[in-house]
Amino acid sequence: MEESRGDISVCRDLEQLSRRAAHQWARWADEFVMAKGRFTVALSGGSTPRALYARLAGEPFRDCVPWSKVHLFWGDERCVPPDHGDSNYGMVKEALLSKVPIPPENIHRMPGERKDPVRAAFEYEQTLAEFFNLSRTELPRFDLILLGLGEDGHTASLFPGTVVLHERKRLAAAPYVEKLHTYRLTLTPPVLNHAANILFMVSGEAKATILREVLEGEYQPEQRPAQLIRPTPERLLWMIDRAAASRLRQDLGGES
Ligand code: 6PG
Repeated sequence: MEESRGDISVCRDLEQLSRRAAHQWARWADEFVMAKGRFTVALSGGSTPRALYARLAGEPFRDCVPWSKVHLFWGDERCVPPDHGDSNYGMVKEALLSKVPIPPENIHRMPGERKDPVRAAFEYEQTLAEFFNLSRTELPRFDLILLGLGEDGHTASLFPGTVVLHERKRLAAAPYVEKLHTYRLTLTPPVLNHAANILFMVSGEAKATILREVLEGEYQPEQRPAQLIRPTPERLLWMIDRAAASRLRQDLGGES
């Protein structure tokens, strides 16, 4: 039986997508803080989630989210200093961290500034092991992992044709991405798939073809790494706007 590729919520546009995602974030934050006293999230980089981060920095989320109990991590990072224009941490700091009362000790960024990316990945694994109090073989279970979808089918920094797609032991890795002529830092597929909840946010006409291939095409994770993200169905939610959904064959109805 074809494993479900998750639940899909079609929004009118990025504005509605980011609003819906912000409300979902607030619900999950309340749920996990109530249940466990904290809410652990691995953030995505790129431009789509920026709209969500900006919304969370405003009312009512700035006041209603229990920021002192929220712990932020990153799903991937560019190998640049935190104040560099390409830094995923830098983007989140400008859009969100500088505007909400989250304690600095709750922010666990990837050390993109390290000269040695492999060492940076190892360091982040230590951060995860300490925070989640992991045994040597245990995986961290994030309450939520935000992911985006690149036009080439990548997610986090799992790019087509890279060795990290086959990583089954490491928690974080430093793949060299040929097409970008650079290293990246990324959580690995086992860690992403171990999350309690995964939320993909995909917006815009430019993503319509790859989204159809990922959701409706053959399972070809080497070319479409986003297809590697296959936790049990109830934990995978796609928030997409109409433009990104425009080539999907399945009948998704209008915005719910
Ligand atoms: C990054 C992201 C990356 C992103 C996709 C989609 O570091 O760039 O983590 O995986 O999610 O490239 O980016 P957009 O949502 O901006 O199109």
